[in-house]
Amino acid sequence: MPSQIITNIKQLVNVREQTHLLRGEELAHLPVIENAYLIIEDGIIAEYGEMKDAPKVSATGGDLEGIILPAWCDSHTHLVFAGSRENEFVDKIKGLSYAEIAAKGGGILNSAKKLNQASEDELFNQAWKRLEEVSKLGTGAIEIKSGYGLSVEGELKMLRVIKKLKERSSLSIKSTFLGAHTYPIEYKENHQGYIDLIINEMLPIIAEEKLADYIDVFCEKGFFSAEETETICRAGMQYGLKPKLHVNQLNSIGGIETGIKLNAVSLDHLETLTETDIALLTKWKGVSTLLPTAAFFLRMPLQPARQLIDSGAAIALASDYNPGSSPSGNMNFVVALSCIQMRMLPEEAINAATINGAYAMELGNELGGITVGKKANLIFTKPIPSLAYLPYSFGNNLIDKVMIGGEFI
Ligand code: NIG
Ligand code: FE
Repeated sequence: MPSQIITNIKQLVNVREQTHLLRGEELAHLPVIENAYLIIEDGIIAEYGEMKDAPKVSATGGDLEGIILPAWCDSHTHLVFAGSRENEFVDKIKGLSYAEIAAKGGGILNSAKKLNQASEDELFNQAWKRLEEVSKLGTGAIEIKSGYGLSVEGELKMLRVIKKLKERSSLSIKSTFLGAHTYPIEYKENHQGYIDLIINEMLPIIAEEKLADYIDVFCEKGFFSAEETETICRAGMQYGLKPKLHVNQLNSIGGIETGIKLNAVSLDHLETLTETDIALLTKWKGVSTLLPTAAFFLRMPLQPARQLIDSGAAIALASDYNPGSSPSGNMNFVVALSCIQMRMLPEEAINAATINGAYAMELGNELGGITVGKKANLIFTKPIPSLAYLPYSFGNNLIDKVMIGGEFI
């Protein structure tokens, strides 16, 4: 690949000589070079600086009116699923409760039924389309979970689809095993039986075929208790899978303590936090991942982002793209919603959706910033007056082009 130089960039955003996970006040600092140039070699950021210092070589990339920022790092999604659940959405609008929808066969089990009926190819094709869509919306790295199979065959099918996505896509992809998403109907009265199935049947094959990077559990009342979460995570950790967990979406039941004890990479959702939970997250070295579109879609109070940041937590933003609680993987909207409804500053939201998202996937050394040696995964915006215009002008597509590994998609 020839080296590319992009000149007269109005603003080059999130430029950092070195990067680390950003906490508290650091999130509000988003380093920018005005009127910049950028050189990319073999898909990697090779050099950048102010235009006055640009090398006088023949430019291959041309001039740019807009802003360049790192592509979004979406560290929590369920992008592989079969079909959709807009009928439940309409039922919810009409006033049906979660329990009533579940009684009609809705919820995670509805997606599990559809998933188990779909072939691996169908599932791959649907997921590929979604991946293409989100990449056009600026996502350059993504974590994808299983969790709609809930059977040995179904979970393996999902994870094999994710593996195929990893092989065929230029996006950076991480795979998470979420067999413990809910109890399948057959195990409704036999929780230990399903946990045994996860531990004794699913995990050994997942490890053997190297199908996952992480293990996840939906730690929630009526789903998996903190103790069950610990048991399942410890089994996964035996195979080298680190925990990335669903905690405190609806209730505070000890998931945060468990995740911290197990050295989780990230603790995600966090809609429902006690003062003790906030204090624990603040002191913790891992990533607290907020999924505001899930709270928005379920008409729940959003995560206390301001309180978390002001007390010093390291937060990331992710889409939670899934058919039940966030049927959108648009990180531009996640960023806008975080500013509008959680009072995050544009700088904080962009840092949380780029550099900190990368750390939430253990990709902090490769992605998330304009740093020499990092992968050239970049968003080129249309001409915009300033960075704050991105979340301000919510819902409008302000992306001109997206580059993944040095190539425009
Ligand atoms: O992250 N909370 C658990 N799982 C998903 C939603 C699952 C579904 O409804 O399909 C989430 O919000
Ligand atoms: Fe989720």
